[in-house]
Amino acid sequence: MKNIMRSHYCGEVDSRLEDQEVSVTGWVHRRRDHGGVIFVDLRDREGLLQVVFDPDNEAIFSEAERIRGEFVLAIKGLVRSRPEGTKNPNMKTGEIEILATELVTLNDSLTPPFHHDEKANEELRLQYRYLDLRRDNMLSNLRLRHAVTKELRLFLDDHGFIDTETPMLTRATPEGARDYIVPSRTNPGKFFALPQSPQIFKQLLMISGLDRYYQIVRCFRDEDLRADRQPEFTQLDIEMSFVDEDAVMDMMEDLVRSLFKNVMKVSLPKKFIRMTYVDAMRRFGSDKPDLRIPLELVDVSDLMADVEFKVFAGPAKDEDGRVAAMCVPDGCKMSRKDIDDYTKYVSRYGAKGLAYIKVVDIANKSEGLQSPILKFLPDQVVEKILERTAAKDGDLIFFGADKANVVNDSLGALRVRLGEDLELIEAGWQPLWVIDFPMFNKDKTSQRWTSLHHPFTAPSITAVDELNSNPGTVLSKAYDMVLNGSEIGGGSIRIHNKEMQAAVFKLLDISDEEAEEKFGFLLRALDYGCPPHGGIAFGLDRMIMLMTGAESIRDVIAFPKTQSASCPLTNAPGEVSSEQLKETGIRLRPKAIE
Ligand code: AMO
Ligand code: AMP
Repeated sequence: MKNIMRSHYCGEVDSRLEDQEVSVTGWVHRRRDHGGVIFVDLRDREGLLQVVFDPDNEAIFSEAERIRGEFVLAIKGLVRSRPEGTKNPNMKTGEIEILATELVTLNDSLTPPFHHDEKANEELRLQYRYLDLRRDNMLSNLRLRHAVTKELRLFLDDHGFIDTETPMLTRATPEGARDYIVPSRTNPGKFFALPQSPQIFKQLLMISGLDRYYQIVRCFRDEDLRADRQPEFTQLDIEMSFVDEDAVMDMMEDLVRSLFKNVMKVSLPKKFIRMTYVDAMRRFGSDKPDLRIPLELVDVSDLMADVEFKVFAGPAKDEDGRVAAMCVPDGCKMSRKDIDDYTKYVSRYGAKGLAYIKVVDIANKSEGLQSPILKFLPDQVVEKILERTAAKDGDLIFFGADKANVVNDSLGALRVRLGEDLELIEAGWQPLWVIDFPMFNKDKTSQRWTSLHHPFTAPSITAVDELNSNPGTVLSKAYDMVLNGSEIGGGSIRIHNKEMQAAVFKLLDISDEEAEEKFGFLLRALDYGCPPHGGIAFGLDRMIMLMTGAESIRDVIAFPKTQSASCPLTNAPGEVSSEQLKETGIRLRPKAIE
């Protein structure tokens, strides 16, 4: 690439250029003084290049003595082969070096607060993010991100999707989190909300006849942050008209397959597994199962209703309860302490204990088993458990007994933890669709119905009466794409009928006035020829996190927020002047100023 200061990137200089003069620019990665001769590893985004300063060239040698780490240099030099024994096969440019003939120091640098190879604390890394991004792996994450968005755009353009922007200053868009709000100066006392997603706008675009929409778009959610969540994150947002679930899922499988093929050189399966929500919960205790882990939950409730052990008999007889077993191959190796640790681990998810049976010698009947609960269980029940879990000598069976959600959460999390601890996670990629979600969930405390997805998701029934008569059993036309245990995307076929939309709002306890106030514009639009439509949104950051193998979502975002939703680089969020507050009609409560 031509550049006034540079003929080549550092990382591009190789033995084909031997005996030629090149000009390079970059940062001093390392400087070594070898008794008279100075070596500098010069770095730019393409790699490192060894530069030699010979004391014979007095004019530039004294300047070379002055330079330090991270100084910015422009160098002209002659490419030469490194002497035998000093070649470095681990370095892209390890065969050669350049002998400097000209040196211009373009800028000095203070000593950075951490070195490239150093594992610095994250707060410091975020505070000096521009230095952190000089690291190889950070730069390569950003480049992969670029490759991904480029590939997605090519695919979507090929398939007739139109990239359309939607507003950032808007009204609340309910996706289950709190809104970030922005005061309006021109309308004091009124607020915009930043979009949790472009959901309603993309539906309106379908009513406009756009037919196929996409957008790579920032979304804002004020929620509790985790390793795979950010308060502002990026979605690949998609909507299509005149489609059903299969049409959307098939198209999205093609998209993800072609992305992995072209960017990762990975062939994903021709058809992704489709698993119902009920099966996912029953077999894996999770609606985003990691299918790389060869452990499964097995129901044993029916065996436990009449046993003496109340801990099991209670949930077995409770219609909301569950008793499940999970067989861990070779689990007999676990010590008492390991089991105590896992018991503590599942207690985080509400489990009151973690019963187990060690299967030492299956041929020896109950003599060959070790367990604190054996005395409570009749032999024929134990036999059935061994049969159902297909346990072999050396295995350990864990049990969970409680309300179904507690058993699912705790054994589901334990399954993942054991996968990691016992190194059971198989290599490769395991995508699947989770389908047939319930439409509503009953909130335990408020006893109100809440949407499992969002309130615009269509039920799998068409009659409004049917929806009202038994909301708890109605399924939705929603689908989630899961990859290696991470929910990378979710979407649905939408309600395109005003009566059904109004009925769903009502069930969610949104009054007519509130529905009119918040979503009147959507209800009105549904009256003007709304086509059947549906779509999906992928969490782009999450997808890239998986593709790069990054442990934190922050490592694939150039300027992310901390766990407490702040930015150590800019110190955002910050205070505003009293003038700004006055203009927007806001007075801070004393507690907020403390
Ligand atoms: P949903 O809320 O499931 O659906 O979001 C879609 C995908 O976005 C990702 N995601 C996040 N990534 C990082 N940080 C977050 N805080 C965060 N929250 C969500 C997830 C998720 O699967 N409008 C609907 C989509 C639709 O129905 O078309 C929506 O936003 O990977
Ligand atoms: P206890 O009778 O409380 O000593 O419990 C006997 C065994 O059952 C211990 O191994 C406990 O960890 C286990 N246990 C207790 N409550 C539960 C539960 N709700 N689910 C699974 N195991 C349990």
